[in-house]
Formats: sequence, C-alpha cells, structure tokens
Amino acid sequence: MNETMSSSQVKETTRKYTYGTWRRQKGWNPLHLVDAEGCYFTDADGKKYLDFSAQLMCVTLGHKNQAVIHAIEEQARKLAYVGPGWATEVRAELSEQLVQVLPRGLEKFFFTTSGTEANEAAFKIARMVTGKTKIISRYRSYHGSTMGSIAATGDPRRWAMEPAGKIPGVIFAPEVNCYKCPLLHTYPQCGIACVEYIEHMIANESDVAAVIVEPVVGTNGVLIPPKEYMPRLRQICDQNDVLLIADEVMSGWCRTGKWFAMDHWAVSPDILTTAKGITNAAVPLGLCATTGKIASYFDDHFFSHGHTYEAHPLTLAPAVASIKEMKRLNLNARAVEMGAYLGKKLNPLKERHPSIGEVRGIGMFWAVELVKNQKAKTPFNTFKDKIAGAPLVVDKVAAKMMGNGVYIQAWMSHFVIAPPLIVTEKELDQGVAALDEALAIADQDIER
Ligand SMILES: Cc1ncc(COP(=O)(O)O)c(C=O)c1O
Repeated sequence: MNETMSSSQVKETTRKYTYGTWRRQKGWNPLHLVDAEGCYFTDADGKKYLDFSAQLMCVTLGHKNQAVIHAIEEQARKLAYVGPGWATEVRAELSEQLVQVLPRGLEKFFFTTSGTEANEAAFKIARMVTGKTKIISRYRSYHGSTMGSIAATGDPRRWAMEPAGKIPGVIFAPEVNCYKCPLLHTYPQCGIACVEYIEHMIANESDVAAVIVEPVVGTNGVLIPPKEYMPRLRQICDQNDVLLIADEVMSGWCRTGKWFAMDHWAVSPDILTTAKGITNAAVPLGLCATTGKIASYFDDHFFSHGHTYEAHPLTLAPAVASIKEMKRLNLNARAVEMGAYLGKKLNPLKERHPSIGEVRGIGMFWAVELVKNQKAKTPFNTFKDKIAGAPLVVDKVAAKMMGNGVYIQAWMSHFVIAPPLIVTEKELDQGVAALDEALAIADQDIER
C-alpha cells in the first residue's frame, strides 16, 4: 500500500474511483479494512469486528487459514498460470478431490472464476445438450450478475435489466417458502403445491431445457424446502427430460452440515454449480460440475465454451487445500453441532422481540426474518424500498451491530447469519447478544 495515504484518503479514493455494488453510489462510505484473522476482521482504527456472515457467506474456514495461504504461495512459485488447454497436476488433484465430495454422478468439471460464470456455463451446457432453450428459475433466488445469470435471478437485482438487457427464455416458478407461501398454502396439507406447479409449467410450456434451484436459498432468506421437495423435483425433471441444476454457490462446502445441501435429500442434480467456499474465498474460483452422461454429449459435439482463466492453476491449488482442511477440521459435524448451538441461542429471541417473524436454519446457515406485524407477516421493507435506496430497518439494526463490533448481512427484511465454521460458542454468544440488543430498533417500529 502507498504508505503516504491516510485512512480517509484510502476511503475517499476507493469511493471516488470504484463502484459500490448493488446500491446507489451516493452515500456509499466504505469502511477501510486492514486485517482479518479467524472469525474477526479489523478496521484502520484497530477496531475488531466479529464476522457473523463470513463476509458474503464465503469464508468458511475463517480468515487467514494457513494451509490455504501456503497452497497459493507454493502454486505461485511452481506454475502460476498456463492456459486451459494443458494438463496440470493441480487440475488433476482437484478433480480427484471433487469426485470424492460432490453428489454422486458429477464427474466432469468446468472451472470458472465466479459463481456467476459457473451458472452461465450451466445454462449454455444445458441448452447445447438438450437442444432446448427455456430455463425455469424461482422468484426468491439469486444466480449471478451477468446477462444470463441475472435473467435467472428472481430477486429485484434483475429489474434494471428488464426486459431487453437479459437473455430471453427464463421463466419463473413460485419459490418454496413455508413461512410465507406464495401460493397461500400450509405445509404439509399443501401437497407441496409449489413443486407440483413446476410440472404444470413444464407441461404448459415447450422447449424447457432445465430447472435451476438454490437447494437452500441463500441471500433471499435461507429458505429450506420440505423433505419431499427435492426428490419430487428430481422425478419431475426425469419424467419430462429436463435437466436439474443445483446452484450451491452459497449452500455448498459444509455450510448446511453436509458437503452440499442436495445431500440432505440424497438427490443428485445433473449439473451443480458452486464457488465461494471452494477456496475459502481466498482466490476467485467457480465450478460447473456435470454428469458423465452430459459430458459424453460433447465427445462428438463442439464444446462451445471457455475462458482464458479456466482452470487457472493459482485458483485450483487453494481449492485442494480448502477441501483437505474441511476434512481435517471435520466441518460437516462442526456445522451441525455449532449450528444447533446457534439455533438454541437465536430461537428464544423470537419470544423477546415482536419484530421477529421467523428464525430458521440448517447447519450453520440461519436467517432471522423481521416483520412489522407478526400476524400478517408484513415485512418492514420491500424490494422497491431497497432499489429506491430508502433506509431499511434491517440496515439500521446492522449499523447498530457494527457499532458494537459485529458484522451481519442484512437483506430487505431479514439477516443471513453464516459465520466461519470454525466459530466458537463464545463468538456465537457475542454475535447473538449484539443482535439481541440492536433489535430494539426494529421493535420500536412494529405496527401497533
Ligand atoms: C446462490 C448464488 N448463486 C450465484 C452467485 C453468484 O456468485 P458470484 O458472486 O461469485 O458471481 C451467488 C452470489 O452470492 C449466490 O449466492
């Protein structure tokens, strides 16, 4: 770093020359961070913050994991870059590791540098293999920022690209949300109408290539499907010759207490995409994994896809190290055990705070959803408020928590709590205590 720059110059120069993502630029005042270790990061004034959401739900092993750092250093010295047309030891080693941990049948890999690009690859592959066009996605979803992946994104980050600035051919199904069902049903009497509706869509459309789902929806609220959902969706896809794409960019890598969320229902998708935790977010890497059956299509057909940085050696080495670390630290068991502890601490908050609508979670992946009216389940803020840059109640609560040294991801009217999986009980207590205190702000704003 330029040592003559003061902290306020760093902030001002960052703000002046670079974009703050997914927001109006006015009012963006980024904090200057200088260090991060374990479950904490530090600002330029030396203040430490508990990372209660592992940044963007991605620093699964905690900051400064030494094995990951070492792998990057070693690979940089050995072979920092060669093009994707060559065989490399690290590419072979990572492939062997992936076959061991991915859902059964996923055995051919395309490496990208983000979750967005992994989904772009998935859509292109699905379209090339099936010869069909349409992709069914769901409203409460995020699949990435490029023209294809934003077209498949259900949440309002898509709106700025409507209608012309996105790829055609994506249609939306209702999300699975048993707290606030978009079809106004109640589980289990509903007969899982939301998944049955996808079959209705396929029957009434033509040309459907694939259905894409986040098996546990991430940013849009940690929505966990009932146990019947994924097996039935698998069946619907099979019966209709439609591919099933599982977007595990956020839900993968032990976050839910399994290697991948699909493992909870023993369902294998045709294509699985992931990124984030695959390298502990230390370098940008995404993965589009397909079955051997899909891969075999390209034996005699042109695989019309690629990037200069596909299978970039420097991105693959920390993935090998991360997977080994996840095994060594037994992170699936840890996510289950510590996630249960977190749930025990979060659930009682609902009794104390009239602004909490629901607390839900799986493994170390939790959401606290706020409402201004518990009975009507009315959120404090809407998508429109977010896009308009209105002050959101969740942002006010999150700001108060930052003041108290705890960072949390806030979105629309809920929080996503997903700390590094190495988090201790004491650190979880610190995070929950800060949330408990800050929720007084939301409690004041409920409808009376
Ligand atoms: C489920 C899901 N899919 C795709 C993406 C896009 O990944 P990236 O930001 O690495 O492009 C994200 C990012 O948050 C995500 O949560």
